[in-house]
This record gives sequence, structure tokens and C-alpha cells, in this order.
Amino acid sequence: MKFYAFYDFVPSELARRGRIDFKVYTNSPEFHLDPGAIVGRLRPALRRYTIRASTIESTRTKADRHMDARYNIEDTSEIISPGLVVFREILEENVAKMVRIAGDPSRLRPHCKTHKMRQIIEMQVAKGVTKHKTATFAEAEMVIAGGATDVFLAYSLVGPNIARAVKFRQQYPQIRFSVTADHADPIRLLGEAMSAAGTTIEVLLDLDTGQHRTGVAADANAEKLYRLIADTAGLVPGGLHLYDGQNHQTDLAERRTAVMECWDQTAGLRDRLVASGLPVPRIVAGGTGSFPVYASINDPAIEVSPGTCAFHDIGYGQMFPDLDFQPASLLLTRVISRPTADRVTFDLGYKAVASDPPADRRVAFPDIPDAQLVLQNEEHLVVQTADAEKYQPGDELLAIPRHTCPTSALHKQAFIITGGKLVERWDVAARDRWLTL
Ligand SMILES: Cc1ncc(COP(=O)(O)O)c(C=O)c1O
Repeated sequence: MKFYAFYDFVPSELARRGRIDFKVYTNSPEFHLDPGAIVGRLRPALRRYTIRASTIESTRTKADRHMDARYNIEDTSEIISPGLVVFREILEENVAKMVRIAGDPSRLRPHCKTHKMRQIIEMQVAKGVTKHKTATFAEAEMVIAGGATDVFLAYSLVGPNIARAVKFRQQYPQIRFSVTADHADPIRLLGEAMSAAGTTIEVLLDLDTGQHRTGVAADANAEKLYRLIADTAGLVPGGLHLYDGQNHQTDLAERRTAVMECWDQTAGLRDRLVASGLPVPRIVAGGTGSFPVYASINDPAIEVSPGTCAFHDIGYGQMFPDLDFQPASLLLTRVISRPTADRVTFDLGYKAVASDPPADRRVAFPDIPDAQLVLQNEEHLVVQTADAEKYQPGDELLAIPRHTCPTSALHKQAFIITGGKLVERWDVAARDRWLTL
């Protein structure tokens, strides 16, 4: 395995301040001992910006702090590429940070969609995190297999999912199970199905605080819907849910203000509901960028629901520079061809890494700072670099996905690295659309 370094910086910050402000993560002493080498590696990629010596000094300090061999893999011969590689120690640290930020494991309801692996649920349960958030029934069954006792399927149920919810309640009667709703029709159908089966289900009202994906505004209609949930036989009012995926402000102060606006809307609705005699036992809120803000609010109803930060990725690393999570899930890829003097082709097509736009930023190669992703097909990724001649077929590199959650779902198993060694493989079990139900 090669030594490498990767850089975590924020383009908008660069543009504003006209200087480079970044962290270097490396498993090579070469980079942090020689700031000039860092500049040399970065210059082709960042030629539009001024690099100041003072920044290099601070980079050295950060590099010193992070310097370790955590991304080293002693023997890669058993890792089929493109392979999803999870660095267990980093994952454990990320999970521990999630718990620390939440303040208490009982305030944390992590979303499992990022990894979809039972073993990671077991890791979280071992840290006292027994409440989990899911988006599919497969994920719901997977988290139960991992030891979760309280499962929130944050998805509005329609079609066959209503009957699946009944079966779920019958199959897992010991599990506290809840779902979302944001419309009178599914509320009525779910209530009828639960009543007919002689059971009940908790329903959280899904709020739209600005993302405009699902949910309703926290207004009089929301009050009416929540009362409908409370009045519908077979349903139990479970509280409120908000996912503020629109809060992607890089500036922490701006993000905090925006998140607090979402919270004010939600808390206002909660107060009105409680004043009218309805129970609002919990408010499930937030994702990676916003959960530290929700966690800082002293309100016993709050449960925070980050997902991505368990693995973290380049996308959030750049978007949220204030968060101290590290990429735990990378892709091992091999050079398969060098078609021209300045091109290297890897076995890393879009069947192995999430194909989110923009196409030229789906993955980052820490080892090739000037890499331009010029072509990607199903099983090929072509990179243009001034260093192309350094690479030969069979060479291995680690790449960091821009969006880790859909990337996991493209892999049957993850290769788990502990102490620099491949120790086991974990199934990405909930990548399937259904398990038993
Ligand atoms: C409803 C819901 N909750 C929580 C999350 C986790 O958010 P993040 O990926 O920002 O951590 C997501 C992510 O898509 C989501 O859709």
C-alpha cells in the first residue's frame, strides 16, 4: 500500500479569504515534515490561490495532530477491487464522536442508511445507542438484527408498505416501532390496517422546515393532522420529525441560525399541540450538519439523527469544516490501463461509487491531488494527471467517495481493516430492498 496524504479544504472559504486553509491527513512522515512538499503537491490543483507560509505552519500543526498510519493496509491481496474498505478504528472514533456530540446515547438516533451493516449497529448498541432511524423495512429488520430495540422508519407508508407495517408489528412485537406520515389518506389507511390486525403503531408527523421534500409546514394544518393521528384508532401520536437537509451552510454561524429557525417552528408547533392536550413524546431532528446544533438545545424531547458522519465523506468534509469526523469508508481501486501519456484508468466505475453530480467530483484521490476525473463508465474511471507515468496496471490507490451512503449500497460486502490488517468482511445487508418482509 502506498503512502498518501489528502487535503480537506473549503473552496468557498478559499475564495473569500484568498488563502488556503486546510487540514492534511497522511500516513506518511514525508508530508508533514516538509511543508514545501505539501505546497508542491497542491500547487497544480490550486493554482488559482495564494499559498501563504503562515498557513503552512498551521497545516503542520494539524498534520502532526492527525499523523498516523490509520489508512495503511498491510496486505491487500485478498481485497477484490473496486472494494469498499472500512477502517474500523476511524469508524469507532466517528461513532464515539456522534455520541459525545449528542450528549448521551439516549439522545442519539443514528440513521443506518449510510452503512446498512448489522455489525455497525452492534457497535452502536455496545455504546448504549439503542434507538435507530431507518428509511426502508430492510434497514428496520437489519437494525433489529444488530440489537436495536427502538426503530423509527422515517418514511411515509403507502401501497404494500402498509401491510408490511402490520406484519412488522406482528413479527417484532417487542420492538418499539414508529413511522412518519404527512397526509390524511395514509394516516387513515394505516389506522384501518392496524385496527383490523388488533395492534397499534406510533406515528410521528413529518414536518417540512424548508427542504420541501416531504412533510408539512408547522402551521394549523399540521395541528389538524397531528390531532387526526391522535384520533385515529390503531395509531398512537409519536411526536414530530424534521429532516433539514437544506441546511448545508458551510459557515457554522449561518448554519446555526438556519437550524434554530427550523427548531423554533417545530418547538412552537409542539407547544401548541401540548397546550391543546396532545402528547408529543419526542422530536427527531437533523442530519450530520445540523445535529450538533439540535444537540445543544436543552429539551428532553430531542433525539438527533445524523447518518453520514459514521463514515463521513469528501462532500460533507468540505461542506462542514467545523465537524471533526474522518472518512472511515474508502474505496480500494486498481489501475487497469494507461491509455495515453496523461491518463490513468481505474476499475472504479459508477457501479462502485455513487454517481451523484457533478460527474467530475464523485471521488477524490488523496494520492493524486491534480487528478481530473475526465470519464466514468460502469466499470471504468479515467483520470487525467501530470503524474500519469508514475502509475502501472495493478497499482492500488485509495479513493474517498464524495457521497458515501449510496456508495455503500453498491457493495455486497465491506472489507474491514483493523490495526492495518484485513480482519473480516461485513455484509451490506440492508442494501437489499427487502429481507424477510
Ligand atoms: C430523514 C433523514 N434523516 C437523517 C438523515 C441523515 O442525514 P445526514 O446524511 O446528513 O447525516 C437523512 C439523510 O438523508 C435523512 O433523509
